[in-house]
Amino acid sequence: MAGPRLLVAGASGQVARSLASLGPADRLTTLGRPDLDLTDRESIERAILAIRPDVVINAAAYTAVDLAETETALAFAVNAEGPGLLADAASSHGIPLIHLSTDYVFDGLKTGAYTELDPTGPAGAYGKSKLAGEQRVANPGAGHIILRTSWVYSAVGKNFVKTMLRLAETREEVGVVHDQIGNPTSADDIAAAALQIAHRLHTSPDEAPRGLFHLAGTGAATWAEFAEFIFESSASFGGPAARVRRITTAEYPTPVKRPANSQLDCAQLAESYGITLPPWPESARACVKKIIETGESSA
Ligand SMILES: NC(=O)c1ccc[n+]([C@@H]2O[C@H](COP(=O)([O-])OP(=O)(O)OC[C@H]3O[C@@H](n4cnc5c(N)ncnc54)[C@H](OP(=O)(O)O)[C@@H]3O)[C@@H](O)[C@H]2O)c1
Repeated sequence: MAGPRLLVAGASGQVARSLASLGPADRLTTLGRPDLDLTDRESIERAILAIRPDVVINAAAYTAVDLAETETALAFAVNAEGPGLLADAASSHGIPLIHLSTDYVFDGLKTGAYTELDPTGPAGAYGKSKLAGEQRVANPGAGHIILRTSWVYSAVGKNFVKTMLRLAETREEVGVVHDQIGNPTSADDIAAAALQIAHRLHTSPDEAPRGLFHLAGTGAATWAEFAEFIFESSASFGGPAARVRRITTAEYPTPVKRPANSQLDCAQLAESYGITLPPWPESARACVKKIIETGESSA
């Protein structure tokens, strides 16, 4: 059986671009605004009718965490209403949706990794809008899939790895918080997992498990440890490196408080789909190498 025909919402984002580069070129279409705008019901319907996908993947989102405090209506339109419109449109054509969500739905106060059964408690408008999106997509009868991920980075787009490498070009030392822990996750690894899930949804629609799953890189780090690893890797490839000064969240205040702990327990996905993402240092090292080889860090 040929693989599924895929429609990806969000053409220019980190995960969307990974999907485009890893997925089958002849069966995967990424569509961003204005062709597919999550706030425009008609554009969603038009895109589904034009592509006639077997599976839809939503990699589009409003991801400006701090700006969401002032652009709250837009954040909810894109992250809550939009996925709802996409899920409804997909359901009406009998198509499953794979939707991405975030560790920021948690308050970060738990000790140890969060499971899918843990209560949510987002601190800011972004987390609240993403949680509302999950709730709109979660309609049990529709058979959609929600993948909560965390600390996403890639060789393209805006992310922590690229920011660190850019800073190291001009600074000897960078202060990075050491009291927030999470799972760095490669956009390529998310894309590979989503493609595997889409394949299963297509080939075994009756058996493929549906619902909410955590999907993150294996192993945890603080942001400071992540930065130290990025610089070590970069130096080994002849790229820029800086010293990391481990600081506290109080020394680096942001408009929205980030969860102190946002580790995700991914056992459910391993059990249901046999998917476990690689250890985060392995994927992070590959990403740093790619950035240095392509000169992306100063882009
Ligand atoms: N980045 C992280 O650290 C992180 C962590 C946890 C979870 N996630 C989740 O993972 C998913 C993918 O994140 P990412 O990092 O790949 O995001 P990203 O790089 O910020 O890309 C988001 C994409 O969504 C598009 N978009 C925004 N509003 C839209 C609309 N109304 N209609 C259609 N497209 C729209 C943007 O298009 P434009 O380029 O036109 O603005 C952009 O291409 C999201 O669901 C995000 O919430 C991300």
